[in-house]
Parts: sequence; structure tokens; C-alpha cells
Amino acid sequence: MKTDQAPSIERSDYRPLPWRVDHVELHFALDEEATVVTSRLRCTRNRQVSAGPLRLLGEELELLGLTVDGAAPVDGQLARGEGWLELTLAGDTAEIGVVTRIDPRANTTLSGLYVSRGGFFTQCEAEGFRRITYFPDRPDAMARFTVTLEGDAERHPVLLSNGNLIEQGKLDGGRHYAKWEDPFPKPSYLFALVAAKLVALERRVTTASGREVLLQVWVEDGNLDRTGHAMESLVHSMRWDEEVFGLELDLDRFMIVAVSDFNMGAMENKGLNIFNAKYVLAKPETANDVDYENIESVVAHEYFHNWTGNRVTCRDWFQLTLKEGLTVFRDQEFSADMLAQAAGAEGAASARAVKRIDDVRVLRAAQFPEDAGPMAHPIRPESYHEINNFYTATVYEKGAEVIRMLHTLLGAEGFRNGMDLYFSYHDGQAVTCDDFVDCMAEANGVDLDQFMRWYSQAGTPRLRATGSYDAAGHRYTLTLSQHTLPTPGQAEKLPLAIPVAVGLIGPDGKDLPLRLEGELHAGGTTRVLELKGAEQSFVFADVSAEPVPSVLRGFSAPVILEVDEDDARLAFRMAHDTDAFNRWDAAQRFAERVILGLTADVAAGKALHVPESFVAAFRAMLTDGTLDPAFRAQAAALPSEGYLLERMAVADPGPLRTALIHLTRAIGARLANDWLSLYKTLEVSGPYRYHPGDAGRRALCNLALKYLVAAGSVEGFDLARAQFARFGNMTEGSGALAALMNDGGVERDAALADFHSRFRDDALVLDKWFALQAGAWRWDAVTPPVLERVKALMDDPAFSLTNPNKVYALLGSFFRANPAEFHAVDGSGYAFWADQVIALDRCNPQVAARTARALENWKRYAPALQTLIRSQLERVRAIEGLSPDVAEIVAKALAD
Ligand code: TRP
Ligand code: ZN
Repeated sequence: MKTDQAPSIERSDYRPLPWRVDHVELHFALDEEATVVTSRLRCTRNRQVSAGPLRLLGEELELLGLTVDGAAPVDGQLARGEGWLELTLAGDTAEIGVVTRIDPRANTTLSGLYVSRGGFFTQCEAEGFRRITYFPDRPDAMARFTVTLEGDAERHPVLLSNGNLIEQGKLDGGRHYAKWEDPFPKPSYLFALVAAKLVALERRVTTASGREVLLQVWVEDGNLDRTGHAMESLVHSMRWDEEVFGLELDLDRFMIVAVSDFNMGAMENKGLNIFNAKYVLAKPETANDVDYENIESVVAHEYFHNWTGNRVTCRDWFQLTLKEGLTVFRDQEFSADMLAQAAGAEGAASARAVKRIDDVRVLRAAQFPEDAGPMAHPIRPESYHEINNFYTATVYEKGAEVIRMLHTLLGAEGFRNGMDLYFSYHDGQAVTCDDFVDCMAEANGVDLDQFMRWYSQAGTPRLRATGSYDAAGHRYTLTLSQHTLPTPGQAEKLPLAIPVAVGLIGPDGKDLPLRLEGELHAGGTTRVLELKGAEQSFVFADVSAEPVPSVLRGFSAPVILEVDEDDARLAFRMAHDTDAFNRWDAAQRFAERVILGLTADVAAGKALHVPESFVAAFRAMLTDGTLDPAFRAQAAALPSEGYLLERMAVADPGPLRTALIHLTRAIGARLANDWLSLYKTLEVSGPYRYHPGDAGRRALCNLALKYLVAAGSVEGFDLARAQFARFGNMTEGSGALAALMNDGGVERDAALADFHSRFRDDALVLDKWFALQAGAWRWDAVTPPVLERVKALMDDPAFSLTNPNKVYALLGSFFRANPAEFHAVDGSGYAFWADQVIALDRCNPQVAARTARALENWKRYAPALQTLIRSQLERVRAIEGLSPDVAEIVAKALAD
């Protein structure tokens, strides 16, 4: 077992390895309780590096044999410590033999080799390979792999690993084997094997250069009818990467495998992507529109890693955003293009904006709080205790924003040139974030030194924009300033290079052509200003009447924008901003102001009034037939509770929930007729197809039901009940059920029971059932606290603490998506949280640490809550044998 005090790993401590592994030959004698792994490493001394031993890392391994060039190590040649062994080798080459025994069935961490539903699966990122055999398990150690799997032919008929299948056959005793060879050198974190009873959907496609390749989606028997969408998504991803980046699949075979027990979304192992089943399986009866969208983007993400991550990989784990930020950016652009394509020329811009809004919602709800709390870190951290804790919203989502800023600053063509240069220099290498940005700079002849601060500085910058109009001179001056608050371990903040996309809206609601003073001609209605200093002014000429500025169009930088806008100005932008993102953002800002005002009134015991101006502006947007339904659904959805808590000076979930309930009911009641007519005109008929146009209509209809049921509308209730009874597809069924949850009555429980009996044998669908109940609001005083329901559901036979999807659906939804219930003033939620973190930590530290993070921002909460939280954090900290994963989270949360 690991001990709680994991050492701090520092970025500045990186040293290249004195020994290379050129080739590794692995043999797996697969057995649930005693798998024997035989490894042969062909090593070469790295002459460029000062001399040193060959260091192999291993964890929870039983070492059965170790040889150097076929013989036992001689006296003094071998040194061993906790988690490593070192061999001092003479000469320039050596062949090392290692035999280890492992117990996959006992491995509940889901890292390394483990058993799930009778099959063998691996997860090696970040440091799982060392749980399989002794190896230089770090990403700059790239080797060519040959892998032989030997297992039971009956129970594990399918034997898969990376690369190409080169040999297979029968063995004695009902066993068989398969031998795989991966032609590309790779780090150990990209190794994978699967041995299970599976079936595949297959497709042969031709790549841009005319090679025929075999695509497979492997699932359990009985799920083949849910693989079509994943396959479609894969084919679209391949085409897109060829067209947009000129990048082609480099293998003859590409496999996706679905597994039920998986810590994260999916994993980009070379040629053998392993997926959480949730991001593979879909058919209309069991998956909703959001599931379809998520599958498309996760399939794309993992496929895109083949170049950004695998062909060019990370030198060390501090560079994680090199592959993750870039690959998230690529999958975001891919999804936006798919949406735009489906929407056609007319609707393309709006479709792209809808995707951008989704991505910014995630950033604001997850990354902004992270960047303002005890875990705040730059996208390229300087130190860590447990690398698994750094697969964060900052590294992924903010990392993608940093890449997007480069794309904005350099343009699509300049960015592509930088990418081409990156692959020409670094294909086959393990490199750093600096290497990537250097390519962007060189390809475009620009200096990105200041831009690099985005990689080293933590915290969300605040961007302040103020304008002044000079009527006599027809000039408008926009002053931009930036400021970043201190974060743990980083008090001083330097100015960043921030691209700020700006437009000026005239009094008639039309965008003005923009000419900066000193320029000869006006050009465009949106301009990207580059803020580099702490404060800078930009003067626009030929402005004949005072304009309304629209700042940070398209969310051109990951910052908190501060502008003083009164209600009238927000309403004006809600009606006229030609930038769809900013139009949505104006609505969000107005809603935020109203909600925080109501929250203050709740706390002060005042009567609650929703301003008429807000309802009018909201209604105007909702009923604007020129706006597509998907966009209107985004505009009519209130800001997330997590984001709103972040915006409060002191986070107080109770009054906030009361305010949200009041506002939801008011919008439902006062716009009841609009919601009803929207529902009737937009309802989608005919068989389900995954299409963004239909999805937008379904989203708006489901939202209408939620508002109507919350407001107690009899007609709305009837529509929800009818939609649920009809259950045309999962988007309609789960949407109707979600709406019925906005009522405390018996019908809600009847619908939940009905849903359960319909899907009792479908684990993925039951996750929705768990999540809806854990995230439920209490709409009346007689409904018992949600915690009671959550506790009862833990005893449901379908729930399991060892399955991450179940934990995220039930516990994750309660801790993250239901702040008012979790933060109950009696502290019951916190005691429950500590119980679960402690229990989870015994089987799966990664999942435990993610769960633990739900309370890291505790110092932002009301003082009475803080006292209660602190005692539970301290309780967890005191646990004997706590994993380094959870230990790091609670230590940082409790630090001063
Ligand atoms: N590299 C994976 C991705 O970005 C993430 C991942 C999958 C992962 N499984 C993991 C990270 C386990 C850490 C641990 O898609
Ligand atoms: Zn990734």
C-alpha cells in the first residue's frame, strides 16, 4: 500500500533518462487471481546523458524473476526501494528480464490490469503500467511493444492489444493466444490489453491517401444495436482530421472497446481506445440527445489524440495540457463543425454559438471555481503530489481556451502552419508546451513570450472594460484593464496577453463598422484587440452616436469580464447583439443579477419580486422566431447553481435555492402561454434521429415542461405526463421525467417507479434515474430532505460503490449538482460526504479524490457551514492509511 505522505514532484526536477528502452516484449498468462507477466526489455545507454542506473518503477507487484542478459543480477548490481528498483549496468546495451505476478480481480482501483464483468481490461494513464510490471513508467520512455496474450478461449475469446495482430492460435487446456505488434514507439501509459467475451461492429474505410483500414467497436453481446453512433462519430472524426489538419490514421486497424467500470470518460491507447460504456452505447430508446453529443465528442477526442498525444507525446506529466488542452480544442472545433454542417449555411453561426455556450458553461461552472480555490494551478503546474489529481478542468478546459486564443491571434491558417511545423519537428518525440508554442511562433514570425505566461500563471484574470464617448470628436474610447487575484503559492501576477474581440452596437441596434484611430479604412464589425499591459485604451473613430460596446465576443479569452451595464443596456444587448455568444451572455448576466438580488431578499426576509423588465427581455428572446430553438433553450436556461455560488460574496446555497425556485415558478407562470404555444409548435414528430435541429426543438420543449410543471400549470403537467407515457425516445422520456421532478406530488414517484421498472436491467439508463433523484429540488415543505433518498438509493441492488458511473450518478449529483440539499444547515450532508470519501478511498482512490473535491472551496461558504465542513475535512485527514490522492486534496483544502 502507498503511504499518505507522497513526496512533492517538481517540474524543475526533470532529468532525461540515462537508459532507453528500444523494445519491450510482453507475455501475459491471464488469470483472474494470478496473472503472470513476463517482460523482456532491450535497453541502450543514452550517451547524451550523464551515467546512471536503469530505474524501473513498480507498484503492488510480486516479483518472481529478474535477469540481466539472461543471468541473475550480480552482487551490488541491484538496489530496491519502495516502488522502484535500480540496476547498475556495464556496457552500452542490456537485455532485462522481469517476471511479475498480479491479482487483477483484487484490483478495485481500475488502474493497471483489472477485471470488469468477467473480462480483463487495462488503464495505464497516468501511472498504471507500473502496476503491471517493472518499467521506466514515464512518458519520455518510448519503446516499441510486442505483446502476447494467453487466456481461456471460452471465457475470453477476444484478445486485443495495440497495433496489428500478427499471430494467433490454440493452446492446450482450452487456452488460446494472440500476438500483437505496435509499429510505433510509445510510452507505457498508452499500452492496453483487453481479453473478454465481446462482439464488434466493423467497418472498412479508405483514408485520404487511399489505404483501407478496419474500424471496430467492441461491446458485450446484446449491445451491438447501440454501436452505430460511435462508429459514425469515428468515421466523421477521421475525415475531419484529414480535411482540417491533414492528419491521417497511421494504423491498419483502429479499435474502440466499451467497458462498464472505468474511472474517466475514455482512454486513447494506441490503436485500442478503451471507453467508459457511457460514451459508446446509444440507441434512441436508451440514450438522449446529450448522450449522442457526448459520444460524438469523446470518440473524436480520443481519436484526435492519435496525433496530439500519441505520435507527439508529453515529456513529463507537467506537460499534460500539451496533449489535453490541444485535443479538447480540436474536439470542440470538430463538434462545432458537425453542428454547423447539419444546420446548413443559414444556421451555421448560431449552431457554432450553441456549442461555444456549452463549452463556456462548463468552464465557468467547473474551472473558474477551481482557479479560485485551494487547488488553483496553472495549466502547466509546477508541482504535484499525485498526478491523478491534475486531470483537471484547468489542464483540460482552460488549456483548450489557451489554444483557442492562439487560434484567434494567428488565424486558422497561421494556426495550421504552426501545427504542421510542430509535427515536422516533433513527430515521434516526447516534448514540452514550450516546444509547441515555439512552433506557433516560428511558423507565424511572431513573439509569444508574453503569451507563455498563460502556461505559468494560475487564477482567472478579471478584465475590466469602460467606455467613454466624445460626441464632438465622434470618438469612442474603450479602456481595458486586467487584474488577477493571488492564488496559493503565487502572490504576484503579471499582465497577460489577452485577445479581446469587440464590437460597437449603434443606437439602431446595428453593428458599426470599426476604424481604430490611425487606421485608413474601417474593417469589419468585430475586432480582436490585444491587451498586453495592465491597462490600455483603444480609440475608435467615426462613431456618430454613443454606441453600446459588446466586449469579449465569442468569449475570446478565459476571463471574468467586468462591465457596468444597467438593466436597460443588458436588455438592449439581449435583443440586438449580433454576436450570438454575447447575446446569450447578456441574458445570463441579467438573470444572474435578478437571482442574486432575490437571494439577498430571501436572506433579509423581504418579499420577492421578479422585475418586469427582466421578464419582458426574457420573453422577447424566448419568442423570437428568428432565433433557432437550440439557442433559445440556452438563453432560457438559468446560470448553473455552481456558477452562481461562485459569484456570491459569501456562498449560501439555501437562500440561493429559494430564489431559484421563486424565479423558476415566476417564469413558468408569467410566460405560461408562451411556453405552451412553443411546445405545441416545436414538438418533434416522427421517428427519432440524432440531428441538431431536432435536438434543439426537443431541448426547448423539455425546458417548457420544466417551467410549466414548476409553476403548477395543469396543462403543462398534462403534457409532461403524456410525453412520459408515450416515451417516444429517451430524450422525451427522461425530459418528461425531469419535468415531473419539478413537483413534489405522488405522480413524480409514480413516474420514477415506472422508469425504474422499464429499465431495471439497463445500468446506463439507471444512472439517469439515480442522478435525477440525487439532484432533485424540494418544491414543497412536506418532501423529506434529498439526503434521505440518496441514502436509501445506496441500498438499491443496482447501486455499487465500486462502479464509478454509479458513484458519479448518485453521489456526484448530490454533492455537485444539489448544493442546497448537500449544504443542509444541520451538517448531515457533510458527515455523509466524509463517510463516502472514506469508504471509496479503500477501493478506488481516484474516484474518492474526485468526490473529496466537492468541498475544497469550503472557505467561501457561510461561517456556520464552514465550521461544520472543517470538522469533516479534519475527520477525513485523520484516517489511517489514507491514499495520497485524497490526502493531497484535504491537505490543500485545510491549508491556510
Ligand atoms: N487521457 C484520457 C483522455 O483525455 C484521460 C483518462 C482516461 C485518464 N482514463 C484516465 C486520466 C485515468 C487519468 C486516469 O481522454
Ligand atoms: Zn484527452
